[in-house]
Amino acid sequence: MKVPFLDLKAQYESIKDEIAVAIQQVLDKTAFAGGPFVAQFEKEFAAFCGTKFCEGVGSGTDALWMSLLALGVGPGDEVITVPDTFIATAEAISFCGAKPVFVDVDPVTYNMDSGKIEPAITPHTKAIIPVHLFGQMADMDPILEIARKQKLFVIEDASQAHGAEYKGRKAGSMGDAGCFSFYPGKNLGAYGEAGAVVTSNADLDKKIRMLRDHGQAKKYYHDLIGWNARMDGIQGAILSVKLKHLPAWNEARRRNAKLYNEMLGKVDGVVIPQESSHNKHVYHIYAIRVQNRDFLISSLAGRDINCGIHYPIPLHLQKAYKALGLGKGSFPVAEKVASEFVSLPMYPEMSPDQIETVVRELESSLSSQLVRKV
Ligand SMILES: Cc1ncc(COP(=O)(O)O)c(C=O)c1O
Repeated sequence: MKVPFLDLKAQYESIKDEIAVAIQQVLDKTAFAGGPFVAQFEKEFAAFCGTKFCEGVGSGTDALWMSLLALGVGPGDEVITVPDTFIATAEAISFCGAKPVFVDVDPVTYNMDSGKIEPAITPHTKAIIPVHLFGQMADMDPILEIARKQKLFVIEDASQAHGAEYKGRKAGSMGDAGCFSFYPGKNLGAYGEAGAVVTSNADLDKKIRMLRDHGQAKKYYHDLIGWNARMDGIQGAILSVKLKHLPAWNEARRRNAKLYNEMLGKVDGVVIPQESSHNKHVYHIYAIRVQNRDFLISSLAGRDINCGIHYPIPLHLQKAYKALGLGKGSFPVAEKVASEFVSLPMYPEMSPDQIETVVRELESSLSSQLVRKV
């Protein structure tokens, strides 16, 4: 049985008719850039996250960048984040002219280790960006407490955590701003590029609305130097349709993760994901850790099972961030887990049969490796 890493087609088939109606409505109204369908989605997504406002933008990268700009982050400033994330988290900081300052991650949750934040704070530190990696929220209480004491902003990178919860609070609702990507493969994915910021701060909402639209609140009256980071109407309409299904899709991911955990928990040499007791993990990525992951990934690919790696190289070791001068050994936990991660197929439409197949082939791959070693 072939098991893809992701099956966007299966999900599309299940909502095809609703999507067709939504797109037709946008075409009928020719509401292509911003407009009523984006505004409607913003209202619904703010309510979903438990915030007062939401600003639809062009991508998750835009969401992070616009939030940092709106909070006044600029040249000479430092922003604390983690090295085990998608590069966009750090790029947004760099694109404001500020410097990303990395801190190591927790070896169990793979999220920001809050104990490492205070030593990284300098007089230039302006904000902290915890990333809710793989769909599990970072330990927000200590992060918010440090930020409050040190007068720093907190921007949640919730790009992988739509609907995740920490002590009953939704991802994106705990910091000054929460940033989401709606890249097609995300738990809530558009049919193109899209993103959003959520916040309960009215000034921030107003500023992000202006920044995403060339600094104007009134057409052709530009009070700020902004950018074009608008969400398009078709994406807004599609996201409204898909948002209604998100809770059920997240539950399906959690069921799949539970089944994986039950079966993989018994397999020697496999470290399964751990969900903290105060968290609701939404398993955007189901990442295990193994030694010799390259062998496992290629063996599984030979058995028609596609895996991924999120992410193979921590940001401080990427060529793009060479100028920071951070060599190997700077963040031992981030480096170790990044060298062991394997993301297994995970999407709401996966069947128990598919999960069993992945686990069976994985066990068989690992034992063939042992035989080869002997
Ligand atoms: C953690 C994280 N941050 C930011 C982004 C950037 O989002 P986008 O691709 O929509 O710009 C992503 C998307 O992959 C992500 O996973």
